[in-house]
Order: sequence, then structure tokens, then C-alpha cells
Amino acid sequence: MKVTVVGAGAVGASCAEYIAIKDFASEVVLLDIKEGYAEGKAMDLMQTASLNAFDTKITGTTGDYSKTAGSDIAVITSGIPRKPGMTREELIGINAGIVKDVSSNLIKHSPDVIIIVVSNPMDTMTYLVHKTTGLPKNRIIGMGGALDSARFKYRLAEALECPISDVDGMVIGGHSDTGMIPLTSLATRNSVPVSRFIAEERLDQVMEDTKVGGATLTKLLGTSAWYAPGAAVSGLVQAIACDQKKMFPCSALLEGEYGLDDISIGVPVILGRDGIEKIVEIDLSDAEKSKLEESAAAVKKTNGLLEL
Ligand code: 2OP
Repeated sequence: MKVTVVGAGAVGASCAEYIAIKDFASEVVLLDIKEGYAEGKAMDLMQTASLNAFDTKITGTTGDYSKTAGSDIAVITSGIPRKPGMTREELIGINAGIVKDVSSNLIKHSPDVIIIVVSNPMDTMTYLVHKTTGLPKNRIIGMGGALDSARFKYRLAEALECPISDVDGMVIGGHSDTGMIPLTSLATRNSVPVSRFIAEERLDQVMEDTKVGGATLTKLLGTSAWYAPGAAVSGLVQAIACDQKKMFPCSALLEGEYGLDDISIGVPVILGRDGIEKIVEIDLSDAEKSKLEESAAAVKKTNGLLEL
């Protein structure tokens, strides 16, 4: 199993490290445009192999896509991260060109690749990869909901004052500060609806804190987060690589599902060896449905800024 990670920055390198430590891939290739940067990160990571007991071979390359040839899965993290006060959508001007070039180069050397998009604005970048590569829609996945759901569970456990392992919850919709939809109606603590433990106004706060989870960290760190994004995307890679049939909220191209068309946005999907093996249509309340429609309208507005 060969995995390429494009972008050896904090998110890409964290993703590579988590993939290596989980030890399900034979090879991870890190690619970056900054001279020597991917090679250095790969070497540093390989020097943890005996310490973290993994056999995955991590190599780095400066812009040589021939080294990525035959990749089964490729993760696109390249582009600029946001600064405090910026929205993810403001990154489109620079990141669209980068993601277009990267995806074109990837499929040149790995025509059967499954692509996972992390670069922001992620839903729009995922849509751009569909338009650029023409790959079958099941082989292009956007990572946002898995990260947002992890932040949702973190906030729920904080409110419940319980272990995170007791909590389950999912975030759908656009990966944006205003468009994501933490499904509080479906969230549980050991299969018991969280509304049995948390008052509505506290749940509303959990929802709001989740939506700005990325922006909160960008304000603290001065740049986008990397540990949780890296861990979230490594989980999607593992589900595909190990054919786990796991369900995640991912940005998927919709063609009528949830009443939406010609858009990539966060919905529950089953991930396995073929990438998105099924889009799962769950029952949403009228309020959740209208939030999803609003979120989709915002994503389509950002998509409209693309020069396709
Ligand atoms: C985040 O929310 C980078 O969009 C990513 O942290």
C-alpha cells in the first residue's frame, strides 16, 4: 500500500507520522516544493521508526512526482494555512491554483489513485479536484467532517465531564466556521441522547464552540491546527487502505442525495477499498435540513469563484 502526502507542512507531516505509526502502509512519500523540506521531514520521521516500532518506509521528494508513481492513496494538504481572523474561504485565491496543479500531477503518475483533499477551502477544493481530474466520484474525498466531529466530541465530553470515549457525535455540512452542522439531536453518551444530560443552551454553546474549533486554534497558534487534522485524515487513509467499511462524514460529490446536486459537501459516507463506497442518507429534522441547504448555498457561492 503506497500513500503519497503532498505538502510536508505541519498537517502533512503529522498525517505521515500517524500513518507510519499505525503501520498499515508499506510506503509513504512526502512531497513538497520547498527544497529539501520533505526529504528532511521524511528522514526525521524515519529516525523515529525504531522508537515508535513501525516498518513503514517514509521518503521525501522536492517536487518530483515520478517518486509518487503507483500511489494507491494521495492526500493533498498543500497550500497556505489561514492566519488569525481569516476564513478558510479567503484562501481560495492561492490554494485553487496549487490544488489544480497537484491533482493533475498526481493522476499523471497514479491513474488509479484515490485522492483525499485537506487544503482549504476544503469543500471547494474537493469540487475543484473533481473538475480537474475527472476521476470517478467515489475516488475523491474531502476531509473536514472527521475533524469537526472530533472537535464536537471534545466539546461534548467537556460539557458532560465524561471521557471522550463515552461520547459519539457527527458533524455534517460545509467545513466552514458558519456552515458546519454538529448533529446534537443524534449525539450520545454511551447510546443515551446527550440531551438527557445537557441543557439546550449548553448544547447550543457546544455547537458554536465546535463550529469555530479551527478558528479558536488559529487564534491561539497563529496558524491552522495540525495534530487533529493530521490524525483525522490518517483515519480516512486507514479506512480505505484496510477496507474497513467505516462511516465518516466526508465531503462527497452529491448528485441528488440530500436534495443537493453538483456540490461536494460533508455527509456520512462508508469508506473502504474503493473510496466512498456508499453515501448514507440519514433522517434530518426540518431545522437540520434547512441548515444543510444554507450551508450548501454558501459552498456553491465559493465554488462560483473558481475558474474552471
Ligand atoms: C481546521 O479546521 C485546517 O480546516 C482545518 O483546522
